[in-house]
Amino acid sequence: MALRLVSLSLSVFITLLLSQCATAAQDVTCSGMVPVRWRRESISIADFGGVGDGVTLNTWPFRKAIYRIEHLRRRGGTLLYIPAGVWLTGNFNLTSHMTLYLARGAVIKATQDTWNWPLVDPLPSYGRGRELPGGRYASFIQGNGLRDVIITGERGIIDGQGEVWWNMWRQRSLRFTRPNLLEFMHSREIHISNVVFKNSPFWNIHPVYCSNVVIRYVSIVAPYDSPNTDGIDPDSSSSVCIEDSFISTGDDMVAVKSGWDEYGIAYGRPSSGITIRRVTGSTPFSGIAIGSETSGGVEDVVVENINLYNTGIGIHIKTNVGRGGYIRNVKISDVSMNKVRKGIRIAGDVGDHPDGGFSQHAIPVVDGVTIKNVWGVGVEQPGSIQGIKNSPFTRICLSNVKLWGVGSRPSALWKCMDVSGAALGVQPWPCAELTTTFGTGGLCSGAI
Ligand SMILES: *[C@@H]1O[C@H](CO)[C@@H](O)[C@H](O)[C@H]1NC(C)=O
Repeated sequence: MALRLVSLSLSVFITLLLSQCATAAQDVTCSGMVPVRWRRESISIADFGGVGDGVTLNTWPFRKAIYRIEHLRRRGGTLLYIPAGVWLTGNFNLTSHMTLYLARGAVIKATQDTWNWPLVDPLPSYGRGRELPGGRYASFIQGNGLRDVIITGERGIIDGQGEVWWNMWRQRSLRFTRPNLLEFMHSREIHISNVVFKNSPFWNIHPVYCSNVVIRYVSIVAPYDSPNTDGIDPDSSSSVCIEDSFISTGDDMVAVKSGWDEYGIAYGRPSSGITIRRVTGSTPFSGIAIGSETSGGVEDVVVENINLYNTGIGIHIKTNVGRGGYIRNVKISDVSMNKVRKGIRIAGDVGDHPDGGFSQHAIPVVDGVTIKNVWGVGVEQPGSIQGIKNSPFTRICLSNVKLWGVGSRPSALWKCMDVSGAALGVQPWPCAELTTTFGTGGLCSGAI
């Protein structure tokens, strides 16, 4: 009885401690990571002949305005103001030291003229377009080799009108890989906030070969059945912070990547220093994912305070033989799930290959993954950890993971193979491969 009382008060104490930690976590932000500069100069798209009637094509006004910012190079940079209205346009490039400001009621809408959409080279770390060989369609809004770019405003909308592209994908009539809604390449000091991203043709926000990228207070929405509309894919990038956002799309909400098989290995640019916190949303695929393209390596990832509902796989760490690279030092905590098909999946057999040139000897390393304080209801399967034969995933540490089944049914069982690590306070009990020696001297010492 006394023991029970002690354990009860202990759990109350821990709950209090946890809730205090949760409030403290609210104060942690990435706002200081990228300087948000005040622009001395402001110009409006309307000054460049732009018409926000939803019908007029504004490709030239956008290109002229940005050309002017690029070539006049005003001290402190320039803000491009997009007033309320629907600004239809073809794709355009951003430039350094600019702010793209979407006023309340402003919509930048992509043309549906897929025929005249420009092409760009494939990414070197992918060797080809992600969905089709050869080049790829340019992203709707893109930045290459830039620094100090801000996209913000009063919750204006960037609308990709992706339906025509989704239909081409469904009818197998695509010629090249579909455009992303927003892509930054080789860029740094990027700040994106208070904008809504809607109906991307393909991935929504794709920072690749970038550093110091902050994405906060954004909403990203696309229909549940829209193909490959990933929310945010930090790719071969470092110091990326995503927080306080809502993402509901047709594919992974956030997926950290770093290149594809032999191309990603040769390019060798990892993703590191990735923070994802206070993100809510749903998707038929993965909530928070790492992979499957991780050939340049992924390390130092922190994921915390995530809410998922109506989701396929809550937390998904995925790679494959042929990928090579590594996934290490990943810390995931405080995740709640409501109605998910599978809570947690860590797997070494996920994803396709760019071509036949991948190596069977390019075995990825997965080491040091801590997942703690996960609470799920309506979880069809709690999880699975499936390493690679003769190359097990190591130091996989689960603590305080409670995943309840659908209705009154108990959740199904965990499945594990080729993995070592430990589990503490996991319900239902994960699998014999994970030991209970967690703390000092255990495989997961230092994990909590
Ligand atoms: C945009 O930038 C790409 C290089 O990233 C370049 O090939 C293309 O011509 C640019 N488009 C315009 C309209 O300036």
